[in-house]
Parts: sequence; structure tokens; C-alpha cells
Amino acid sequence: MNKKTVRDINVEGKKVLVRCDFNVPQDESGNITDNRRIVSSLPTIKYLLEKGAKVILCSHLGRPKGEVKKEFSLAPVAKELSKQLNIEVKLATDIVGENAKKLVSEMKNGEVILLENVRFDAREEKNDPEFAKQLADLAQIYVNDAFGTSHRAHASTAGVADYLPAVSGFLIEKELDFMGNALENPARPFVAILGGKKVSDKIGVIMALLEKVDTLIIGGAMAYTFFKAQGYNVGDSICELDKLDLALEIMEKAKQKGVKFMLPIDTKIGKTPDKDTESKTVKYTEIPDGWEGFDIGEETIELYKKELKTAKTIVWNGPLGLFEIDQFATGTNEIAKALAEIDAITIIGGGDSAAAIEKAGLSDKMTHISTGGGASLEFLEGKKLPGIECLENK
Ligand code: ADP
Ligand code: 3PG
Ligand code: MG
Repeated sequence: MNKKTVRDINVEGKKVLVRCDFNVPQDESGNITDNRRIVSSLPTIKYLLEKGAKVILCSHLGRPKGEVKKEFSLAPVAKELSKQLNIEVKLATDIVGENAKKLVSEMKNGEVILLENVRFDAREEKNDPEFAKQLADLAQIYVNDAFGTSHRAHASTAGVADYLPAVSGFLIEKELDFMGNALENPARPFVAILGGKKVSDKIGVIMALLEKVDTLIIGGAMAYTFFKAQGYNVGDSICELDKLDLALEIMEKAKQKGVKFMLPIDTKIGKTPDKDTESKTVKYTEIPDGWEGFDIGEETIELYKKELKTAKTIVWNGPLGLFEIDQFATGTNEIAKALAEIDAITIIGGGDSAAAIEKAGLSDKMTHISTGGGASLEFLEGKKLPGIECLENK
């Protein structure tokens, strides 16, 4: 990575503002249901504390749209951080107000506080320079480690870098190293697996990956659009009728680029997207009316597994079926298992994809699971990320 990191600066005794992505999922009672983003932020926080910095953490949680809403408070995150770090992490009642300033002024070296949700202030998402300056005024150094929010040009993710020396944390460094290397220097064969709901969500990623991969494997609901485009009936399956030409264009581009383009052969279909719905497996080209495709079938799983066994680098984005329902999670789970057993670099991007691998209990078997949803997609598309662009070059 060509950006400076916390290793490149002296932080001892300095007030360091660290932007993390603590946007974690919670249940109705506010309990954190997946703490991966918090755990992934610990190396940078611990490093700064060990070096004797005064660590001022900030993040958004959810989309409170510029209003203070209790259900979006970072209180549960402060609690989890205290537990993980084994020291008290005080939560300010505001962001750049009196309470935050008071807590900062009382900090000693090696202490850490957390500001309240930066999106409680409408100026955050507008990247308002005055708000960015007020954030900067709390500290002497800015560290961005919020990879998952690095595709947003907001005050705390980008604007603040106009007013302070700005470097990256270890999480951003790790994300860029793993995903960047896989894209720029892939051990070949390089295979991408793309699933998820819509072709339209993934056009940028598909087009960018077609320039780089040897094989592109398609699954998930987006596969039906490719079959419809070729004139087949897809029953009630999710299908984007306004993307049929695009689907054909993608297939044509794959041909031109010499990329092996693989579509599923069979699909598990159901009457409705419910756990007890009647289901059966049919050929992709023979989906009857009144039925909806929810997963790839056994033949496809075998075909894809065989292809994956030859790969040396695999990038996966988008579940291969409606994995939230057990009877339609087989395709996603079997391919995840295959990845876990293969001797290849395996990179997972996308919020739902990461959740699917976690649910299958295979997270620690992958080379890298990105903490970014939208951010990892934009990175795979080759887009510039404002939260990274704003940092100082080495
Ligand atoms: P990611 O967040 O990893 O980028 P997406 O958001 O593109 O992934 O897609 C994930 C969603 O796609 C999941 O909620 C999954 O249930 C859904 N999905 C995948 N295949 C199907 C299908 N055949 N029918 C309905 N939904 C599907
Ligand atoms: C995410 O969960 O993808 C990030 O935290 C960004 O959240 P946002 O889509 O609300 O900007
Ligand atoms: Mg998603």
C-alpha cells in the first residue's frame, strides 16, 4: 500500500482521532449479533494505546439521518469495546460538543474514549467542512481504519483529513493488501464467483473482473436474468427484464476476453420464499410457471466444485441462493466448504456473503473476509475510495 500507516508516525502523548466502522448488526434488544467489525478494529486501537496515544474513536451506526435517535447510539459498541480491550471505553454523549471536549481534555496517555454516532449530526454525510474542522480540533492526528465506510466521502471519513496529518490503520492496510494483491497479481487460474440478487447491483464488478479473471462463475438470483436473456422461461424467479441486453453483452464480452463464463445447469425451485415451502430441483432451462428458483442444484454444485479445484485465486461476492432459508442454503454452503478445502487464496467480499460464510462456520478457513459491503464492491470495481484517497502518501 502506498499510503502512510500508524507505523509511519509518532503518536506518543498525541490525541489521535480514529475513524472506525462500528456499524454492526443488532437484534431488537440492541445486542450486537456480529462483532467482526469491532474485533477487526482492535489491532490499530491496541497499537495506539501501547504507543501511549490518547485514542478518540468515532464511527457511524445505521442511518439516523442527522437526528439523535437512541436506537442508533454507540452505547452497545462502547460496552463491547470495553470488554474486548479490557479497559473502560467511555462514551461521549455528543460528537464535537461540550461532553466530548471535556472527556478529551481529561484523557491520559494510553486511554480511549468513543464519540457518539457521527451521523447524529446532519453535517457528517454532507462532508461539511466546519464539522470536519470541529472533529479535527479534538485531536492532533487522524487515523482512518473504517474500510467499510471508505467509499463514503463524509466529514469523519474524508473531510477531516484536510485539517490533520492523516494515515491509515492496520485494517485498511490489510484489506488493500489482500484484495489489491488478488486483483493485481493473482496466482492463476483466477476464478471469480458472483451471486446475489441482481445483475444491476454487480455490473461494475462483473465488467471489472472480466478484465482480470480466467473463469467467471455465476449463481444466485442474478443467474435467472442470464437464462431469460437467452429466451428461456424462468417462472416466478427474480429476473430483471430491463437487463436482458446487458446480460447478453456480458456473455459476449466474456467470449471476447477469453474468459470461461459458467452458468448453473440445475436449480432448486420452490413455491414461495418460505422455510417449509414445497421444493424440487429442475434444469435451469425448464423452470415451470408458478415456481421460483432459490438455489443452485446438485449438478451445478459438482460442476462448480470441479472448476474451483483447479483455481489458485478465488474471489467470491454474493450468495449462490436464498441462504437465509436452510433448504436453499445448500449451494452456498457446499461452495463455501469447497473453498475451505482448496489450497488457493480465497477472498470474500460483500456483507451478505460474509454473513453466509460466518453462518456456515467457515470464516477462519478463508484467506480474507472483507469487513466492507459496498466498500469492497467498489474496490473490486476498481473505483477510487475517498476514505483512502485522502490519506497521506508514503
Ligand atoms: P452481498 O451483500 O454479499 O454483496 P447481495 O446483497 O448481492 O450480496 O445478495 C445477497 C442476497 O441475495 C441474499 O439476501 C440472498 O438471499 C439473495 N439471493 C441469492 N440468490 C437468491 C435467489 N435465487 N432468490 C432470492 N434471493 C436470492
Ligand atoms: C456498511 O455497512 O456498508 C457501511 O458501514 C456503510 O454504511 P452506509 O451504507 O450506511 O454508508
Ligand atoms: Mg448485500
